[in-house]
Amino acid sequence: MTWTPDDMPDQTGRTAVVTGPTAGGLGYFTALELLRHGARVVLAGRSADKLDEAAVALLREVPGGKVERLVLDLTSLAAVRAAAAQAADLGAIDLLVNNAGVMATAYSRTVDGLEVQLATNHFGPFLLTGLLLPQLAAAGDARVVTVSSLMHRMARSAPLGDARTTPTSYGAVGTWQVYSQTKLANLLFTYELDRRLRAAGSPVTALAAHPGIATTRLMRNGPLERIPLGRPVVETAMRAVFQTPAAGAWPTLMAATADVPGGTFTGPSRLGEWAGPAQVVRSTGRSHSTADQGALWELSERTVGLTYP
Ligand SMILES: NC(=O)c1ccc[n+]([C@@H]2O[C@H](COP(=O)([O-])OP(=O)(O)OC[C@H]3O[C@@H](n4cnc5c(N)ncnc54)[C@H](OP(=O)(O)O)[C@@H]3O)[C@@H](O)[C@H]2O)c1
Repeated sequence: MTWTPDDMPDQTGRTAVVTGPTAGGLGYFTALELLRHGARVVLAGRSADKLDEAAVALLREVPGGKVERLVLDLTSLAAVRAAAAQAADLGAIDLLVNNAGVMATAYSRTVDGLEVQLATNHFGPFLLTGLLLPQLAAAGDARVVTVSSLMHRMARSAPLGDARTTPTSYGAVGTWQVYSQTKLANLLFTYELDRRLRAAGSPVTALAAHPGIATTRLMRNGPLERIPLGRPVVETAMRAVFQTPAAGAWPTLMAATADVPGGTFTGPSRLGEWAGPAQVVRSTGRSHSTADQGALWELSERTVGLTYP
């Protein structure tokens, strides 16, 4: 079975928090379809200006839609806590989409001393999810959808080391390896979260999605930042070959709204999962390692200072 937004049920009365909703990206198109189907959508991103820009564009597409803004910087554990405190006013949350991410950035550490890709793509979302869990549970049948990548297949191991230590190699290859590890972490997190929620008797489920390859601005925060003059050429070539960001959001939207159980992973159905309508897909054996899932969970709890569920 494949899935497109035509299959999405009405979302009226539901509240969705979507991280990383910058115009042109997957989060924006995820928010757009949820809005078109009646949801109240909370745009959660690190730049107030970009949130305003996205909100204006969304309301142009869906006049009268319910759009709210939440400033959230995933590179700071204190900022994540502050954003979650702000989000308390939202009441019950039916859907949290952990979409925000960076890819193959130059080496840097966050204010908490964490490697920036691991902080943005895993530890920040881990903390945010835990802090919002009571509001998700209050919704009755809420979902947490985390956006992974085909690149999870390239991870040689789970990121179980101390993210505060400086790596021995973080060149062109090293940064992609860390990105792959963060995308593996998204799956290890999802499967462990879903299992722990079941064990705790929680009504919340956790699912994951990958977009295939979509022409967003993801490269700009990473590889293309280092070659600004080459950016137009690379982006034009990518637009010719890969799928649109609107279609790249379909697997996320399927995981968020289709009749599929917790622990489901969705992705595109064509061209080796690079493009096409969404469907249920498989992740690597490594992502199903319960030992790695448990170890990453415990490391994450220690790193962010929050134990849940
Ligand atoms: N595009 C693809 O082909 C592809 C493939 C596989 C997986 N993915 C995944 O899809 C997700 C969305 O990426 P995209 O392609 O849509 O790229 P994008 O257009 O660059 O969107 C990424 C979003 O994350 C936000 N973000 C980055 N750092 C943040 C932080 N510290 N705090 C809060 N928000 C932050 C960005 O905000 P700013 O605008 O402020 O930078 C932006 O809104 C990512 O998780 C990525 O790994 C994408």
